[in-house]
Amino acid sequence: MALTDSALIIAPSLLAANYSRLDREIQRLNRSGAEWIHLDIMDGHFVPNLSFGPDTLRHIRPLTGLFVDVHLMCERPEILIQPFVESGANLITVHAELGPRVKDLLWQIRSCGVHVGLAVNPPTSIESALPHLDAIDLLLIMTVNPGFGGQSFIPEVLTKVEMAARRRKAQQLKFRIEVDGGINPETGSQSFQAGADTLVAGSSLFRRTHLKSAVSQLRSTCMRQSLNLPL
Ligand code: DX5
Ligand code: ZN
Repeated sequence: MALTDSALIIAPSLLAANYSRLDREIQRLNRSGAEWIHLDIMDGHFVPNLSFGPDTLRHIRPLTGLFVDVHLMCERPEILIQPFVESGANLITVHAELGPRVKDLLWQIRSCGVHVGLAVNPPTSIESALPHLDAIDLLLIMTVNPGFGGQSFIPEVLTKVEMAARRRKAQQLKFRIEVDGGINPETGSQSFQAGADTLVAGSSLFRRTHLKSAVSQLRSTCMRQSLNLPL
């Protein structure tokens, strides 16, 4: 999967999966038509929740060839980057809210030989990401306040997506624009229209009996919308 092509990528978030049967959930993902798996890593400090660690990825890595997109919502990502790389991550994202530490963190991820992502929370200005745009492969514009799945999409964030897309074009950069939180066919197509090309979705996909048709519906709604076809 070339990271720099502009094709729409669907990245189901494992946060919304049924952990009592993770192997079967991974098989469902393998058959779903999604290109990536999004792993939300929460440390109970940066966000008020806990999720999985590198060992979870180590166990699921042999079960899938999908691209693994690791989203570190962690206060000290520097201690997790290497373990996630060793467990099979393909891309690691850290948060712009970590401020002066971001430059070194992005370098640390790059030096581990995996793709580099930077995330921006809804209240955080997109300006905080601008100095790093030439150092990243992916800009994650959060469409909910991080910490929990199943929240409602924050539409005001769409202006940040549009600005990021304009900057990418103006600076002739190649980073992908990812959105994460409250993504369903309606909000996904709004985000795609605004310039996002990578959609993270958890509850809107996993709550459906047929994950494959949920992924297909998310994708087709975005594509139809972009062609101004009736929904
Ligand atoms: C928030 C998480 C969620 C998750 C997707 O910290 O990052 O956004 O990936 O959750 P849904 O799709 O259920 O909003
Ligand atoms: Zn996420």
